[in-house]
Amino acid sequence: MNEIKIFSPATVANVSCGFDVLGFCLDSVGDTMVIRKTDKKGIFITKVEGFDLPYEAELNVAGVSALAMYNALDLDFGFEIEINKKIKPGSGIGSSAASAVGSVFGMNELLGRPFNKTELTAFAIKGEAMASKSEHADNLAPALFGGFTLVKSLSPLQILEIPTPSNLYATIIHPQIEIKTSEARAILPKEVALTDAITQWANFGSLIHSLHTSDYELIKSSLSDVIVEPHRSKLIPHYQDVKNATIEAGALGAGISGSGPSIFSLSNSLEISKNVKDAMKKIYSNTGIDFDIHVSKINTEGIKVL
Ligand code: HSE
Repeated sequence: MNEIKIFSPATVANVSCGFDVLGFCLDSVGDTMVIRKTDKKGIFITKVEGFDLPYEAELNVAGVSALAMYNALDLDFGFEIEINKKIKPGSGIGSSAASAVGSVFGMNELLGRPFNKTELTAFAIKGEAMASKSEHADNLAPALFGGFTLVKSLSPLQILEIPTPSNLYATIIHPQIEIKTSEARAILPKEVALTDAITQWANFGSLIHSLHTSDYELIKSSLSDVIVEPHRSKLIPHYQDVKNATIEAGALGAGISGSGPSIFSLSNSLEISKNVKDAMKKIYSNTGIDFDIHVSKINTEGIKVL
């Protein structure tokens, strides 16, 4: 096999109280990429569609993660990468992550899978780090593993797969403004109050427990972020109105998707997630800001060959 086409899904990182460690995978939105072996040694970005991204491999997120993997091998051939970018950069639903994992996943398939998913995540971290100026994997791991993932540690890289309750649906509104992850990280405090930390880890622990036990009421009471949301929500127009409307429409909760501006909510039925979509639409229709909304089952498969 010399060429492969893949679907690299969008993700929701942080999931309220799980800043930098928890994420889940979406199934209704993602990029497609073609990875091809070439006689020439090296990594070459040969086509970019959808958004304006650099062709120099060293400056392209998919290229940087591909180079990290390529340099760990000793191959007498190279790879061409075509990117059909559908996830808008700076949207908060893992645009850079989809690029970062897509190249290494595709190359790994063409090579007969020499690396496992955790090792692929380690290569992808290099691409994500170039985009966001920070090494984290909460948006990469769910794209590769599917479902919910918990990044227990970066060094050594340890990723836990968390069960996905079967009736869980996500609704995500993406206001068409760009928030750079690096800027959304720069506004965060370097230290937090112990009382906030206690609240956060209690919610985080109970959120993980609720996912293991499919306890939707516990998911509802755990989806709260007292550390990051108070700062980042100021960057997102009408954030609190959207959040309130989703709860009124029956959602289990809502929060900032990744570093924003997208806002995610979780619901325990498809019907409710569609009602949440209508509620979000109602708020944003009056703002003059363009937006799109996705309703998605949690994607437990993750990245895949097309
Ligand atoms: N955990 C990261 C953040 C995800 O919120 O900054 C976005 O890259």
